[in-house]
Amino acid sequence: MDAQLSTLLFEQRRFPPPPEFAASANAGEALYRSAERDHEAFWAEQARALHWIRPWDRVLEWNPPHAKWFVGGKLNVSANCLDRHLDGPLRNKAALIWEGEPGDRRVLTYWDLAREVRKAANALKRLGVGKGDRVAIYMPLVPEAAIAMLACARIGAVHSVIFGGFSAESVRDRVNDAEAKVLITADAGYRRGQVLPLKRMADAAMAGTPSIRHCVVVRRRPGGEGDEAFAQMTEGRDHWWHRLLDAESAECEPTPVDAEDLLFILYTSGTTGKPKGIVHTTGGYLTQVAATTRYVFDLKPEDVFWCTADIGWVTGHSYVVYGPLANGATVLIYEGAPDWPERDRFWSLVERHGVTVLYTAPTAIRAFMKWGTEHPGRHDLSSLRLLGSVGEPINPEAWIWYHTHIGGGRCPIVDTWWQTETGGIMITPLPGVTTTKPGSATTPFPGITAELVDTAGTVITKGGGFLTLPEPWPGMLRTIYRDDQRYRDTYWSRFPGRYFAGDGAKLDEDGYWWILGRVDDVLNVAGHRIGTMEVESALVEHSSVAEAAVVGRAHELKGQALAAFVTLKDGQHPTSELKDDLKAHVTQKIGAIARPDDIFFSADLPKTRSGKIMRRLLKDIAEGRALGDTTTLADPNVVSRLKEMYEEKEG
Ligand code: PRX
Repeated sequence: MDAQLSTLLFEQRRFPPPPEFAASANAGEALYRSAERDHEAFWAEQARALHWIRPWDRVLEWNPPHAKWFVGGKLNVSANCLDRHLDGPLRNKAALIWEGEPGDRRVLTYWDLAREVRKAANALKRLGVGKGDRVAIYMPLVPEAAIAMLACARIGAVHSVIFGGFSAESVRDRVNDAEAKVLITADAGYRRGQVLPLKRMADAAMAGTPSIRHCVVVRRRPGGEGDEAFAQMTEGRDHWWHRLLDAESAECEPTPVDAEDLLFILYTSGTTGKPKGIVHTTGGYLTQVAATTRYVFDLKPEDVFWCTADIGWVTGHSYVVYGPLANGATVLIYEGAPDWPERDRFWSLVERHGVTVLYTAPTAIRAFMKWGTEHPGRHDLSSLRLLGSVGEPINPEAWIWYHTHIGGGRCPIVDTWWQTETGGIMITPLPGVTTTKPGSATTPFPGITAELVDTAGTVITKGGGFLTLPEPWPGMLRTIYRDDQRYRDTYWSRFPGRYFAGDGAKLDEDGYWWILGRVDDVLNVAGHRIGTMEVESALVEHSSVAEAAVVGRAHELKGQALAAFVTLKDGQHPTSELKDDLKAHVTQKIGAIARPDDIFFSADLPKTRSGKIMRRLLKDIAEGRALGDTTTLADPNVVSRLKEMYEEKEG
């Protein structure tokens, strides 16, 4: 972290807002001033931009660590994202422009989307889904994924979207934790030219999910119905989405939902082997995502907004579906990989659809840098006017490359820091207002307070420390699903009275934030959160493995890569086949995103005298650094042997 800090300190470049952009920006300086006067009043003003069925009685009830926002208010998220746009000029505007990986395209206007959502909501009701029931969504990035989310919101059901890259076992565990009644999936999805058999995975998951009564299957493959290789339908349990919807009416009144009723659960990795079900509620969440979308992405009626995240992650929830649709925006969604069929796919999408605002992740930008400027160079990217970054720290070189080669030097960049837990963007520039510095997420959004503390929890105003949030914010997680103690322990106990984000950060002399990354056992691999413990538990479930320790090592493209140190059971032999087998095993247990990049076999792992594995030393080894302090080791020879072994491999 020290090396990172000093590199960042050299970053002196400044990018003031272009005057033309500032002249018509949605945000102005005044936003900060009005928020500073009174945070609650500021958020209430933002909430008034939504449609409420019943107004709230109190803006905030704060009994740390539990907050309630807009207490007593009633609203419906789908009505806010759809119905209220249908009486005016937005009725026939494109809501979703979709492109599948094979090149198939669909456009749904607000009218189309509302009709589909109502039908889907009626179908869910017919399957016995009611207010508060949980529905799991395990889908490729197709319009039906967003329709399914909005249909749940329409009837007050709680969705739990599970990223389509997760394994059957991960799906099973998440479905069981939430006790979902219905699972919505698709026969298949496309990724890098391959057909992913999602329904088959869902079937494997459903072999162990007693709560599931029905499974709804979207037909993604043309003519897919009847192709048993992809979707074997279990009589009575499984239903084709299109058949269910065909039979439903397009009338469906939105269910009034309490501001504090659950909108969704989203599982994310933490420092234990068990993912946490992050709970988000309705009124505060929608207020924050709608307001941040309006001001951070500066959306105008004619914009085409492309957030490249999958709906399986929080970014897809907040900035593909809820934030943009609440603002009546046109959203582009693309199912597949950025390098399929060629490495210019993103730029051909931008050109073809006239994308104006692009929001993507540093890991993607670093890959584009490596692939070379000829790919964006072949396309007209002049429609772009604003660029965004999210998910991990963006290194200044990648920022400058993005600015120069994608933004043509004219587009402001918003580097937005936030988390699954925060629901919406927390630290970000406001385009047209903030002078940016490459690599810094700049300052908190109006109405948000962030403070840097040292290890003792004392607030510091410059230098390095821990990022904390001392005040509640509308989109904050309310708890961990059915585990409030874990909520208190994870977020509120390290620095009592403050939410601890798990990130290290630095404040510079202008009060700008430089996020340095996770300081806990959570890794950020290609913008995806992975708990080292999850990967370790998957490894030790393998019959050959006695013990495993997983650490992150710096990786040029992915930010971090997974390195696993594995001790085998007696009688097992370290072979390259076994390495491949272990990688495949983790893929099967968790999903391909958790597949270790390196596996090292070792007779022992470095441990303290009390038996704790010293991951810090393993990280030194994996990153090829000189070993840090080894004095507390039970057997210092273990680590020097490991280092030698590692260096031999490298050489
Ligand atoms: O470490 C921070 C990093 O991503 C973590 C949150 O991951 P997740 O819940 O999966 O949400 C990702 C998308 C919101 C944070 O704890 N992170 C996110 N955005 C940034 C970031 N790190 C640096 N700069 C960012 N802009």
